[in-house]
Amino acid sequence: MKILVVGSGGREHAIAWRLAQDDRVETVYVAPGNAGTALTKKLINVPESDIARLAEFVKTNDVRFTVVGPEAPLAAGIVDYFRANGLKIFGPTKAAAQLESSKDFAKAFMKRHGVPTADYETFTDADAAHAYVEKKGAPIVIKADGLAAGKGVIVAMDLAQAHEAIDSMLEGNAFGAAGARVVIEDFLKGEEASFIVMVDGQHILPMASSQDHKRLLDHDMGPNTGGMGAYSPAPIVTPQIHEQVMREIIRPTVDGMAADGIPFTGFLYAGLMIDRDSEGNSVVKTLEFNCRMGDPETQPIMSRLTSSFVDLIEAAIDGRLDTVEAQWDNRVALGVVCAAKGYPEKPEKGAQITMLPADGDSLHVFHAGTKKQEGLTVVSGGRVLCVVGLGLTVKEAARVAYDGVKKVHFDGMQYRSDIGYRAMK
Ligand code: AMP
Ligand code: GLY
Repeated sequence: MKILVVGSGGREHAIAWRLAQDDRVETVYVAPGNAGTALTKKLINVPESDIARLAEFVKTNDVRFTVVGPEAPLAAGIVDYFRANGLKIFGPTKAAAQLESSKDFAKAFMKRHGVPTADYETFTDADAAHAYVEKKGAPIVIKADGLAAGKGVIVAMDLAQAHEAIDSMLEGNAFGAAGARVVIEDFLKGEEASFIVMVDGQHILPMASSQDHKRLLDHDMGPNTGGMGAYSPAPIVTPQIHEQVMREIIRPTVDGMAADGIPFTGFLYAGLMIDRDSEGNSVVKTLEFNCRMGDPETQPIMSRLTSSFVDLIEAAIDGRLDTVEAQWDNRVALGVVCAAKGYPEKPEKGAQITMLPADGDSLHVFHAGTKKQEGLTVVSGGRVLCVVGLGLTVKEAARVAYDGVKKVHFDGMQYRSDIGYRAMK
């Protein structure tokens, strides 16, 4: 069979690579893909991002189903378009993707359905927003309503920062239309984890737990990024927390979307903040929803999936996720992102990547911002590669991953040297 994966990042490389492991799969097309997907066995890049032309491609090439990696095509309605044309696709509709594409939609949804999250208010008027943060005090969190590639959230530790964020979003137009409305919410403390499940509208199949490192620099310093590394499983997600998250967050969300007439299909990613109350009971709140898998969380998660991903996705598309199970490698998988010089503000493109470690049973190199240029592999985006190591412990997985990272060379490469530190404690 032939499959199409939409996207060009490390997440899509990992998804396509895992799908291709199935003997029944002849080709996984990746649109548009990157230099890594171009080189991986059974993967073929398709230089196309237009939704209507992708649907044409799927019809002409007898593609069995499509999996969408990033949020932008989902928010643009790729699932609606494919379904209207009778094509099988896994992802949320444009309406359901609002859980990610509008923070205001997501917060109002959570409030309506009793899903635990920080208290908030939404503003379009800067004066009202300034008055609200004066009343609330710092720390406080300012979020652009729309999609801002992971950059639309300012965790303001003092009021000056909060006022500046309001001005830049509402008055300075920092995120264009995405920031013309802002959500201002209470600051939550605790430890973050990524909780990703597959949903078929009704049934839920949880993926392995994971944790991401959002800050650019060691010890969680520096600016927020899309993610500088991740590992799976996340020890903080104990069986008890897992059960609590399913009961308090995931199940009410899936049921609430169905009750609201916009059933959710696709990967649902809840960004969690996990804390304890004064009695020592665990308190879990939703920081955000994404309507897709995480990047870089997908790279370690896919490295651990041992069941057929084709079977899982087909079950999800057919609405029978309750009939399948996901099996995971017992080892820990840990991925380190190698980023371009200048990332995240202004990544420099064009540096030549001269050396890459060889893939093996315990090491995988997933490409993101790379492309082929006159026979060379060069940097073409902010996050360039994710090197995933597997090992029996977090330490061992980190050792394997960092041995791999030391074999990667390009000018100005940045990476964190402490991925997994929380899980080693
Ligand atoms: P988001 O895109 O909403 O997940 O926000 C990006 C990052 O900002 C999160 O991963 C958190 O580190 C931080 N953040 C978001 N909301 C809050 C909050 N209410 N309290 C504390 N930190 C937050
Ligand atoms: N790594 C965070 C995200 O994918 O949103």
